[in-house]
Order: sequence, then structure tokens, then C-alpha cells
Amino acid sequence: MSHQFHHRDLSELRFLITGGAGFIGSNLVEYLVRHGAGKIRILDNLLTGYRSNIEPFLSLPNVEFMEADIRDYNTCLSACEGIDYVSHQAALGSVPRSVKDPLATHSINATGFLNMLTAAKEKSVKRFVYASSSSVYGDHPVLPKREAETGNPLSPYAVSKKTNELYASVFGMTYGIEVIGLRYFNVFGPNQSPDGPYAAVIPLFMLAALQKSSPFIDGDGEQTRDFTYVENAVQANIRAFFANHPEAVNQVYNIAVGERLTINSLYTMIAGLAGSEVASTHRATRAGDIRDSLADISKAERLLEYHPTVKAKAGLEKTLTWFIKNHR
Ligand SMILES: NC(=O)c1ccc[n+]([C@@H]2O[C@H](COP(=O)([O-])OP(=O)(O)OC[C@H]3O[C@@H](n4cnc5c(N)ncnc54)[C@H](O)[C@@H]3O)[C@@H](O)[C@H]2O)c1
Repeated sequence: MSHQFHHRDLSELRFLITGGAGFIGSNLVEYLVRHGAGKIRILDNLLTGYRSNIEPFLSLPNVEFMEADIRDYNTCLSACEGIDYVSHQAALGSVPRSVKDPLATHSINATGFLNMLTAAKEKSVKRFVYASSSSVYGDHPVLPKREAETGNPLSPYAVSKKTNELYASVFGMTYGIEVIGLRYFNVFGPNQSPDGPYAAVIPLFMLAALQKSSPFIDGDGEQTRDFTYVENAVQANIRAFFANHPEAVNQVYNIAVGERLTINSLYTMIAGLAGSEVASTHRATRAGDIRDSLADISKAERLLEYHPTVKAKAGLEKTLTWFIKNHR
């Protein structure tokens, strides 16, 4: 990650990254380490994250790792102690996982979120930035997606993220805490794991292409997504910490690139980069999935000064390089 997205000196500032051992969280931790943040506390129970994602940073004097659970309110209070900025990334990802086990998704994504938000308020943190999701658009048919126009959620996961936004808005109004929600659209990049039943499509395609095996594509593969390289998600968090536009706080923002690819063309691209000629295998569509997804990012451009630096093709090349090093 070569770009710098902040203008402040970070050396006096203290950050808490929940889910910091996970995919997006660990990339954010890396950015803060690289730019000399005063303190970086990571709160993660390693449920879907990996110690190896943060191992290189654990011996640094400004990095602290709390291996603990956001479902415990006292843990959240301790984690927020002495913190200026929170980025709340900890959650159970995956729509299919939430369809299979809605209780687990609710307890971590909804109750755990409320624990963190309440703890941040109690400890008077300066700003609380959190991961929402494009899934909150649900069945709303219009493209591109604009923040104010959402439909009905299509999965327990989407309900949990919608719930986050409702709580954040109420806490902003009621308690005056500064909150910013980031609706990520299909983020991908280094540290995203291809392992487990709920792995995301890009790591699965990369693994298949490198192993010259045939990946599964759900449905006809003509569904579209606004694939977002992780450096753009990191940028959004950094911009959200420090945005000083008077209308910037207590808002949600689309975080994406503003371009869409079909799943079929995504696989063609990855197979081409990896030199695989193996065709994909189509199977039934998944419950809870939306058909098309494309973001209008003009609100984040205007109020957060968020400008994506890496588009899908360049991001796929960087990710493949990382995969070849770590998963062959
Ligand atoms: N990756 C995407 O495309 C995407 C898209 C939309 C939204 N999001 C959201 O972004 C955030 C980060 O996602 P990610 O892709 O990095 O997923 P991830 O699974 O890699 O990271 C989540 C982290 O949270 C941790 N965690 C889970 N439950 C916890 C608990 N009870 N207590 C403490 N830590 C816990 C996990 O161990 C993991 O390290 C999540 O909130 C996710 O819902 C991700």
C-alpha cells in the first residue's frame, strides 16, 4: 500500500481496530503501523481472523493485541479505554453463513456492535467508524446504489448491518457521539482467506486458477458486483477518522470503485492472469444473494474526500502476487 490518505501526524493518536486480525482490519492495522500511529490496539477473538495477519506487528511497542470477544461488554469497555478513534470491523461475514446460523450472526454483528458502540460512548472516543455493507440495499432495484435509497434486507446478515446503521444514527442523535458507517462493496485483496465454507469469490477463484481446477459459479454468472480493492477500504477508514466537512459525521457512505464486473468476466480475468484455461462449473443460485450491485460513490467523494486509487484489474494483479507467495 503506497498511498497516504491522512494529513495529520498520527504519532499522538490512539486507535482501536476491532477485527484487526481479519482481512480488512489487518490491512488497516498495517497502514497505521507504517504511518507511525501512536497506539494501535487490536481486539479480535480469532474466530475468522488469523494471528499470522498481525504477527509481524505484535512485537512493536505501539501495538497491543487483545484476544477477546466483542460479545462481552466489559471487554469492549476495556478496549475503548484511552482510545481516540475506533474502527469497528469485527463481525461474522458471509450471507450464506447468516442464513445457516442467524443467531450467531445476530449475537456478534448486532449485539456485539451495540456493545462496542455503547463502550465507545462511555469512554468518550472521538469518532466511531464501522463496517456496514452493500447488502443493506437488499431488493432495491435501482442502479447505481445511492445511500438514501435502500430496499428490504434479503438475509440475516443484511438485517444485522441495517441494525448497525439504525443504532449508529440513534446514538449520533441521542448522545452526540460521532459515527460514520462504511458500506463496503465486495472488498478483496491480500489477507483474504480462501479457506472454509464461507470463503469469498475472489480468493476461491485465485486458488482454483493457480491449482488449475474448476471453480464453482453460482447461477449463470451474469450477476454483477462492484469489486473493491482493500486499499480503497483502508482509505475510507482513514478519511472517515479525520473528515472535517461539517456534514460528514453521522452518515453512511458507499465504499466501492463505481464500476461493475460480472462473475463470469471476473473469473476470465483471474484465469487469464494466472494462466489457467480450465472452465468454471455453474451451480444453483444462492439464497439471500442480490443480483446486481454497483455503487454511486459521489457522497464519499464529496464529504470524505474518498477517491479510489486502485481499480479492479490492478487490484487483482496485486492480490494474485500475494496469493502466489502465500497459498501455492
Ligand atoms: N470483505 C467484504 O467484502 C465485506 C463487504 C461488506 C462488509 N464487510 C464487513 O467488513 C468487516 C470486516 O470484514 P472482513 O472481510 O475483513 O472479514 P474477516 O472475517 O476477515 O474479519 C472479521 C474479524 O472479526 C473477528 N471477529 C469475529 N467475531 C468476533 C468477536 N465476537 N469478537 C472479536 N472479534 C471477532 C474475526 O476473528 C475476524 O478477524 C466486517 O464487519 C464485514 O461484515 C466486509
